Amino acid sequence: MASSRAPYEEVKKLGVGSYGEVYLIKYHKKEYAAKVLHRLLFDPHDPGTATYADKFRAECERLKSLSHDCVVKYVQTIIRSDTNFPVLIMELCGESLTTFLEHSPTKPLPYHVELNISIDVGRALEYLHENSVIHRDLSSNNVLMVAGNRVKVSDFGMSKLDSVNPNRSLTICPGNVNYMSPQTFSNPPQYTTKLDIFFFGVLSVQIVTRQEPNPTDRHQPIPHQSPGVCREVPEVERRAAQLETIADDHPLKPVSLKCLTDEEEGRPTAASLVQTLKSLRGEEKYTQSYEKELHRSHAHKEREREKRMEKSHRSRHRSRRHPRVQLLPNEIKLKLLVVGQSGVGKTCALRVYNGEEFACQECTVGIVLDRRSTMH
Ligand SMILES: Nc1ncnc2c1ncn2[C@@H]1O[C@H](COP(=O)(O)OP(=O)(O)OP(=O)(O)O)[C@@H](O)[C@H]1O
Ligand SMILES: [Mg+2]
Repeated sequence: MASSRAPYEEVKKLGVGSYGEVYLIKYHKKEYAAKVLHRLLFDPHDPGTATYADKFRAECERLKSLSHDCVVKYVQTIIRSDTNFPVLIMELCGESLTTFLEHSPTKPLPYHVELNISIDVGRALEYLHENSVIHRDLSSNNVLMVAGNRVKVSDFGMSKLDSVNPNRSLTICPGNVNYMSPQTFSNPPQYTTKLDIFFFGVLSVQIVTRQEPNPTDRHQPIPHQSPGVCREVPEVERRAAQLETIADDHPLKPVSLKCLTDEEEGRPTAASLVQTLKSLRGEEKYTQSYEKELHRSHAHKEREREKRMEKSHRSRHRSRRHPRVQLLPNEIKLKLLVVGQSGVGKTCALRVYNGEEFACQECTVGIVLDRRSTMH
């Protein structure tokens, strides 16, 4: 896509998703993220395209009105004059939670970070549900990192587009299948706020284990029954391998299990989920983890400060041993011979003042004070 016709500057591509590409852009001198939807979704020969584009624009406008500190802010929708395609401009965030969790996969996150990320996601869902928005595509790809290991939820409402043209394979089943609740596999699929709560359950397990969800098959053959007779496997059982790696006394485990309940009625609402999560902040485990991290970051800062001081000391020392020679108008360049001192034979600059030579600041080997020095 030619960027010359766009009213913004494309700085770099941030990534590609199932709906389009996301770019870091400069727009009105500020940095934003811009999502350019796949051309496929705007096929001019497809009679559904106009409806699709209109619906998309309407959706963007509605999303623009949503504002919450745990939700990525949708800034504007621009229609590019060259392609006539809409471009979604939004707040620029950091890496996705998927990438963040991949950094040290064998090391658990500090507990307070696990809890704070979970609370941010829960608060975003609470806000969206209060505003009658069902995310329907919550996954670690759509949770973006911001300063202080906090997160914002993105791409909410995108999957609402899918109902417009159900014939497209790209859009027929929104979301990542490994996060899906049993209700989304029913015919017709049911999308309620409790689907987002199920997503939260999957996500919270992913945060604690640092492993992407990988459930077993939904149906399993029943032993000693004729082939083809299967049972539906409960979600907790499908995800048992991952769940078993979480210690039973981990405070988030019972919350995750409740959110992964097969029946929607068993799952909490977003509001009560947030309340439960917030109450966990009052526990000693949270305070301990938080203080440990604080201590670690102080110690880290102190180590960095020491390293910086040592480096600057070394560079001062080096410059004394190898003085940089920069001649000023009334300076002369000479070779020093200082008896019994370091710096013998080094070239350095001397300032001539009243017919006398003074050592320059970098070369304090005592020319003037120490008359034993000889100049050549
Ligand atoms: N507002 C944003 N700020 C910074 N990076 C973003 C932003 N929105 C998306 N990205 C990044 O752009 C990339 C593509 O995002 P996109 O939403 O198109 O796909 P995805 O989230 O990877 O997959 P999915 O199709 O499941 O949404 C991701 O790596 C994501 O981290
Ligand atoms: Mg996304």
